[in-house]
Amino acid sequence: MTKLILGLESSCDETAAAIVTSDRRVLSHRLAGQEAAHRPYGGVVPEIAARAHVEALIPLVEGALADAGVTLADVDAVAATAGPGLIGGVMVGLVTGKALAHAAGKPLVAVNHLEGHALSPRLADPDLDFPYLLLLVSGGHCQLLLVEGVARYRRLATTIDDAAGEAFDKTAKILGLGFPGGPAVERAAALGNPKAVPLPRPLKGSAEPHFSFAGLKSAVVRAHAAGTWSPEDLAASFQAAVVDCLIDRTARALHRAEDATALVVAGGVAANGAVRASLLKLANDNALRFVAPPLWLCTDNAAMIAWAGAERFAAGLTDPLDMPARPRWPL
Ligand code: KG4
Ligand code: ZN
Repeated sequence: MTKLILGLESSCDETAAAIVTSDRRVLSHRLAGQEAAHRPYGGVVPEIAARAHVEALIPLVEGALADAGVTLADVDAVAATAGPGLIGGVMVGLVTGKALAHAAGKPLVAVNHLEGHALSPRLADPDLDFPYLLLLVSGGHCQLLLVEGVARYRRLATTIDDAAGEAFDKTAKILGLGFPGGPAVERAAALGNPKAVPLPRPLKGSAEPHFSFAGLKSAVVRAHAAGTWSPEDLAASFQAAVVDCLIDRTARALHRAEDATALVVAGGVAANGAVRASLLKLANDNALRFVAPPLWLCTDNAAMIAWAGAERFAAGLTDPLDMPARPRWPL
């Protein structure tokens, strides 16, 4: 029987609610960004984020239920992000999820935000089977995971300093391109020459498939201070360096993921056109399918949390109402 899952997301600066079915229909998804509230600070301020989640979440849940034409009583389970993330925000979403689950007498599914990203490609693509090699690239994370099944993840690599999205955000700040940084850098990069500025490719060619972006960010700071190059050339050269690193590291990890059926990308940086195009080429070169969720499903949203909830619920994985919120929670 088809199940209806309500999903809640509040781990960073997006508040979101969605209704997804176990047969992959997104009946509704609502999202409230907080960009305007954080823009004056050039980054996400945790206390402001948590307060904004409190104000936004219940109206979004009501809206998502109304859009889907269902009531809380029709829902089979409530899925909420329980971490990792900014703890104030995570608590708002998790406590709200617990209250709704308790009030409606439905099971709670506590979802790891990274698992939401990791399984989101399966919501978009019914043919994507386990195991697959996942490049998970977001503002807080940069990992290569072998996704072997629901709740079965093997981490092959991670970043030793910054996440890729963090590098995009910092570069945007250095170049004065605004917040949020990733899309701003991508727009500027489209107008620049990716070969203009010599920038390093940290860890490229190293044996372990880990990532590092701190040195690249420092190089952008120095190049910008030199005053020789336009922000567009700097953005284009930076983006090319990130893409080079992501591809080199992912290619390395593919050697350790021989039974992978597909190369998959997820997380906010997966919205980047240059990243997607290069990964598609890498997949083709290795005779692998390439799966990238649609852009709206790459950046934070509640449909991916509802979907991870649906997958966990189908596997019999529900959680007690005293499940704690976790600021750190490796997959
Ligand atoms: O997955 P996400 O929405 O939130 C986290 O879980 O972190 O990812 C947000 C990150 C930010 O760092 C943002 O700058 C980056 O994804 N991002 C992009 C693009 N769109 C979002 N980076 C590069 N190019 C983009 N088009
Ligand atoms: Zn995320």
